[in-house]
Amino acid sequence: IPGLRRGAVLATVPVAVAALIGAAAPTATGVTGTEGAAGAGDPYFPLSGNGGYHVRHYGLTLGYDTSSRHLDGTAVLTARATQSLSRFDLDLSGLKVTGVTVDGTPAAFRRAGQELVVTPRHTLRSGGDFRVTVRYNGTPKPVTDPDGSTDGWTPTDDGAFVASEPQGAMTWFPANSHPTDKSSYDITITVPQGRTAVANGVLLGQRTAHGRTTFRWREAQPMAAYLATATVGKFQVQQFTTRDGIRVYNAVDAREAQAAAPVLKQLPSVLAWESKLFGPYPFRSAGSIVDHAPGVGYALETQTRPVYDSAPDLSTLVHENAHQWFGDSVSLTAWKDIWLNEGFATYAEWLYAEQHGGDSAQKAFDALYARPASDPLWAYPPGDPGNGKNIFGTPVYARGAMTLHELRGAVGDRDFFRILRAWAAAHRGGHGTTAQFERLAEQISGKRLDGLFHTWLFAKGKPKNA
Ligand code: ARG
Ligand code: ZN
Repeated sequence: IPGLRRGAVLATVPVAVAALIGAAAPTATGVTGTEGAAGAGDPYFPLSGNGGYHVRHYGLTLGYDTSSRHLDGTAVLTARATQSLSRFDLDLSGLKVTGVTVDGTPAAFRRAGQELVVTPRHTLRSGGDFRVTVRYNGTPKPVTDPDGSTDGWTPTDDGAFVASEPQGAMTWFPANSHPTDKSSYDITITVPQGRTAVANGVLLGQRTAHGRTTFRWREAQPMAAYLATATVGKFQVQQFTTRDGIRVYNAVDAREAQAAAPVLKQLPSVLAWESKLFGPYPFRSAGSIVDHAPGVGYALETQTRPVYDSAPDLSTLVHENAHQWFGDSVSLTAWKDIWLNEGFATYAEWLYAEQHGGDSAQKAFDALYARPASDPLWAYPPGDPGNGKNIFGTPVYARGAMTLHELRGAVGDRDFFRILRAWAAAHRGGHGTTAQFERLAEQISGKRLDGLFHTWLFAKGKPKNA
């Protein structure tokens, strides 16, 4: 049956056909439930996220033994059904599930690849809230992404580096793991005494007993699953509040401390500068987790508190914190729009250099534009990278930033910065699409910009009319 997705309401489909395509037949009680889709419908990562419900809150209680690398977890998800649900999926990769309840009643469950398929005792009513509790444990392993990089729970010599873009959340908790679904989080982590566990938002409390320390973290603002962290290590911790009232928590591996110190010192001024450019900082807390995780090869803009695999340079600090506006507060609706994250964060680096005695953005643009048509920079257009393998490639970051520079040239500085601020404000705590960004830019500038965006975001090859 072309065009029919699992999770669609199948009122007119005969029972036998419904069974064939995996939809629910009427139950004994006469209530027709429908199964939640196994994915959120993103063609780059078809199994990421799930259909049929929205997670409002995650309550994660984790214990991590840094020597055996064993993780013990209880996840309590407060969710709302967006359709009648006879069955729904969560994303979970590896690990052993020892029990699932829905609204306190044991539920049937099975594993199918990265899907944890849950069948509640009773069909869940569309629009109703429900609570899922998953008990699980095991040795988390990162996932390998289409580009060969890995993400998710990554053990280190003294803990774990936890960065989950694009699909690694499922390596450490059962999740509705697509950026379209944003939730508040309580993350409680117990680790051996002497180790520090750092998650998102504010530290509510920390308590040591019987040789173990429990850290309680809360991120009250909506967060995509890939931006959650629970990084564990032997960290030097620094806490203070900025003049704008933002609570800063920095955790630094001693081996990176010397290199990190002068950069982390700049965090308050970087956030103040970014707030001046992009509008008020979207969260109440901030900070940095500087780990020593050789082999990871990247940093991530984990919400409120980016995680770095080693001491970052200032440009990287600017980049990851720019993501707090572009990527974290304003989230993607599909991974193909990744330039809305990476192009913006990269352009923030150019602007920072320009306004702090470095190269102008024009100079950065010119150096890239000078590259020959055969250069990988022009291999695919940033607005349509084509697949999950390309989402972190140079065209997304560099040509994405070049797109913004072209826009700036076309509309002038005043309107350009108005557009950036309006974008961050209009979609704060929510989502945005490339089409919405284009429309906003046209509205604010009063200019037709379809040609510009087509050329820079969507046309194949090196644009000619720079
Ligand atoms: N968003 C990160 C950045 O700041 C990059 C994440 C890369 N992830 C990966 N699995 N390779 O640019
Ligand atoms: Zn980035």
